[in-house]
Amino acid sequence: MGNLDDLAKKTGSQIIPADATSVEDLENLVEKSMEILGGKIDFVLHSIGMSVNVRKKNPYTDPNYDYTKKGWDVSAVSFHKLLNVLYHKNAMKEWGSIVALTYMAAQRVFPDYNDMADNKAYLESIARSFGYFFGRDHKVRVNTISQSPTATTAGNGVKGFDGFINYSEKMSPLGNASALECADYTITLFSDLTKKVTLQNLFHDGGFSNMGVSTAVMEKFE
Ligand SMILES: NC(=O)c1ccc[n+]([C@@H]2O[C@H](COP(=O)([O-])OP(=O)(O)OC[C@H]3O[C@@H](n4cnc5c(N)ncnc54)[C@H](O)[C@@H]3O)[C@@H](O)[C@H]2O)c1
Repeated sequence: MGNLDDLAKKTGSQIIPADATSVEDLENLVEKSMEILGGKIDFVLHSIGMSVNVRKKNPYTDPNYDYTKKGWDVSAVSFHKLLNVLYHKNAMKEWGSIVALTYMAAQRVFPDYNDMADNKAYLESIARSFGYFFGRDHKVRVNTISQSPTATTAGNGVKGFDGFINYSEKMSPLGNASALECADYTITLFSDLTKKVTLQNLFHDGGFSNMGVSTAVMEKFE
């Protein structure tokens, strides 16, 4: 946890390790967080994704279904488990905010995104379905942010990622959103200025999701 330790030092935070597929670990995470923070939690970010099929280079058309199940559990069901623990422990403050990160392959075809596309569709659905109960019962909002392709460990694991990120950059009127810009946008959803935004999948992608074609991409085909 080298990098995490550095981050914790810089931000004066404590790290509580948790496997997000384990309800027991998540219960410990939520309980310890409340102890350290001295009460209920204002905001939570789920920023977890992993496909074993992508790692093992199994094509979408020929997966190992045990890997499919594992990736689904880590990338999507972990969000349900986290929401479940927060909900039943009544751990969120009123008007608190929960966000998960997702990608547009949940709505459209990106062949090399593989089974992560299905996992993200499931994740976004959980945000809406559980978000209803969280809003009704605890006045807590639940949203997903659909981020541009971003050069990170998971991002670089996607086949042909460089071509893909360049294409997206050229298609987006504002260019790809960086990781830092994603953090900034996430903070807006944690602020009291977005109290009535819930059950939404919000695109943070420089405009990519509403584009058909851009002049920069057209030029490549002339
Ligand atoms: N990089 C991109 O292009 C991109 C675009 C849109 C959305 N996202 C999403 O952003 C989020 C963060 O991904 P990233 O790009 O920073 O990649 P990353 O690989 O750096 O982050 C994934 C994180 O998931 C954690 N993780 C994996 N299995 C876990 C488990 N069982 N329990 C707890 N944590 C576990 C890893 O420790 C890692 O910190 C993911 O949900 C990803 O799908 C990424």
